[in-house]
Amino acid sequence: MSNLALEEFDTARLIPGFSAPELPRERPDPVALAAAEHNTRNWTSAEPGPFKPGSGLHGRETCRMFRETFNPYRPSVLDWPELEPAALKRIVALPIWDIAVQTEGKARLRMAAYAATLDDADMRGALALNAWEESRHKEVLSRMVAAYGIGLASEPPYVWPRDAEWAYLVTGYSECVDSFFAFGLFEVARRSGIFPPELIDTFEPVMQEECRHILLFANWAAWHRARLSWWRRIRFELKVAAVWVFLGWERIGLARTLDAEGNEQKHDNNFTVNGAQSMTDVDISVLEFMRLCLSENDRRFAGYDVRLLRPETMPRLVRFALRFIRGKKRQ
Ligand SMILES: [Fe+2]
Ligand SMILES: [Fe+2]
Repeated sequence: MSNLALEEFDTARLIPGFSAPELPRERPDPVALAAAEHNTRNWTSAEPGPFKPGSGLHGRETCRMFRETFNPYRPSVLDWPELEPAALKRIVALPIWDIAVQTEGKARLRMAAYAATLDDADMRGALALNAWEESRHKEVLSRMVAAYGIGLASEPPYVWPRDAEWAYLVTGYSECVDSFFAFGLFEVARRSGIFPPELIDTFEPVMQEECRHILLFANWAAWHRARLSWWRRIRFELKVAAVWVFLGWERIGLARTLDAEGNEQKHDNNFTVNGAQSMTDVDISVLEFMRLCLSENDRRFAGYDVRLLRPETMPRLVRFALRFIRGKKRQ
């Protein structure tokens, strides 16, 4: 199931009841584009009252948020602006393209696999759409790689997960960690001006989409755990703890991956942390970068209904680290 294009990775075939969204054939005019951009960032439910985690209302409105903030861009009509030789060289040299393409490839399959196991039609539809959007991210990246002549390693086969819930948890929490840093990195790249603004614009919808994804994930997790019986809940929490251990292990660089030929691929799983410097000529301290990640995180979530839960682990950890660093400095 490797190397499938958007049209070929048939989320609809994998997930009963899901049909792929219709996308406009042409690039929308600037007014329609601006409306879609606004729509994808701002959403408040018309339902009154609190969203009690695990309630029918919480589940329904989470899924409604995800459907109604869908951004209907088509990868094949995106702009790939011509780059100055220095910018092109810098982009081609970034060590992220293999892992980025493969991460999207894995995410779409794992999300589809878990979605297919769900009885709740609303949640199944939302997760299926998320899987489909990951497939679209993969296509965006493939088109960019082709446009700029970036060489990729061959992709390993994407394997249907044996434990779909585990695979979905790993993907979801990974996205929470990576997106938090990616929001900051993206802003560093935008401010530095070393990439043309048109290229930043092309990627902006993908960034915001990751924000929607982790918003969906955080609410799915709260909804799901609140509906479990006590013993299933214990099993689930142990699984979540194991996922965090696994992610830590992966990020200290112990995880190895093999490509289709069986050659070891050196992936920098910490790129989002280490990569800030390669995005800019301006010196940025770790402290400044952490603060930027926090403010970008807040800004990207600001437009969504405050009754929906936000992913909290990364912002909390980083706030804690900042307080610790500030305390040390004062001493
Ligand atoms: Fe993605
Ligand atoms: Fe995602």
